[in-house]
Amino acid sequence: MVKKEEKELTVADLPGVGPSTAEKLAAAGFDTLLAIAVASLGNLVSSSGVSDSVARKMIQAARDMMEMGFETADEVLTRRMACKKITTSSEAFDEVMGGGFETGAITECYGEFGSGKTQVGHQLAVNVQRPEEEGGLNSKVIYIDTENTFRPERILQMAKRAGLDPDTALKNIKIARAYNSDHQMLLSEKAEDLLKTGEYKLLIVDSLTAHFRAEYIGRGTLSERQQKLNKHMHLLLKLADMYNCCVMVTNQVMSKPNVMFGDPTVAIGGHVVGHSSTFRIYLRKGKKGSRVAKLVDSPNLPENECMMFVTEGGLSDKDE
Ligand code: GTP
Ligand code: MG
Repeated sequence: MVKKEEKELTVADLPGVGPSTAEKLAAAGFDTLLAIAVASLGNLVSSSGVSDSVARKMIQAARDMMEMGFETADEVLTRRMACKKITTSSEAFDEVMGGGFETGAITECYGEFGSGKTQVGHQLAVNVQRPEEEGGLNSKVIYIDTENTFRPERILQMAKRAGLDPDTALKNIKIARAYNSDHQMLLSEKAEDLLKTGEYKLLIVDSLTAHFRAEYIGRGTLSERQQKLNKHMHLLLKLADMYNCCVMVTNQVMSKPNVMFGDPTVAIGGHVVGHSSTFRIYLRKGKKGSRVAKLVDSPNLPENECMMFVTEGGLSDKDE
């Protein structure tokens, strides 16, 4: 996106940015023109200490330097081609996903307890480490665990089947336990430092909504919760886009007592989560221990579902 002849431009070239402001900005994670160009005014002011009007000029100048805005369709195509897929280890599930979980997008897996959301997360955390010819991206993983359900033992089992060195597979996953929703949001901001290295192409948030659901109880707090969730989703979307990484989030369901026909369950977070997720997958238990994964929302794929199994070695098309 940056013009060739302007490659050398840095944050220090922005109007109103002296060495000490540049340092403060860098400390707050605003160390590239892109980071400033897409920053919110409030964030920039609070982390750099400059006035509103200076911050506004900085953002505008960064945007001008970045040549942001419209791009031609062939540029969009090039960007789409940069989008990569991570295999799920189930051919049927991969097919439903158009080849696998996409980078540059948020994929939300929602379903009841035990439907396999965390298992899908573990499987992706292993598979993304595999070489590209095996459906991986040769990359490391960031895992934000809010329910304390990350299991290294499970990674070992899955790594073994995938033919990865088990120790390396564990070392390639950076896990942070989030203790409440604020902590969870802070961790996703911190994740950016790791993403900047270019070594991480998968960010998992398991569960996206559990803390929010527990902390904001009752109708009176609903709008506050939704606003905060919205902010969280936007940050995740920005990370997916800026670093072309795959963001996978899990979400619980609640029952809708007024639904008489069809499936009486809906995902938590309503439109806020639904609209910011690029892909949405509904997971449920099927016949004979199988799992059904249904793609319910996608910009470019038909609604479709498939059957798979959670086996000792991980996700699979057949019950082993
Ligand atoms: P919640 O987080 O509680 O909402 O559920 P979830 O959707 O994350 O479910 P999870 O992915 O934790 O699925 C748990 C199910 O996966 C278990 O009931 C098992 O069927 C299966 N599972 C978990 N670990 C193993 C394992 O080591 N081997 C096998 N074969 N199955 C496992
Ligand atoms: Mg889970």
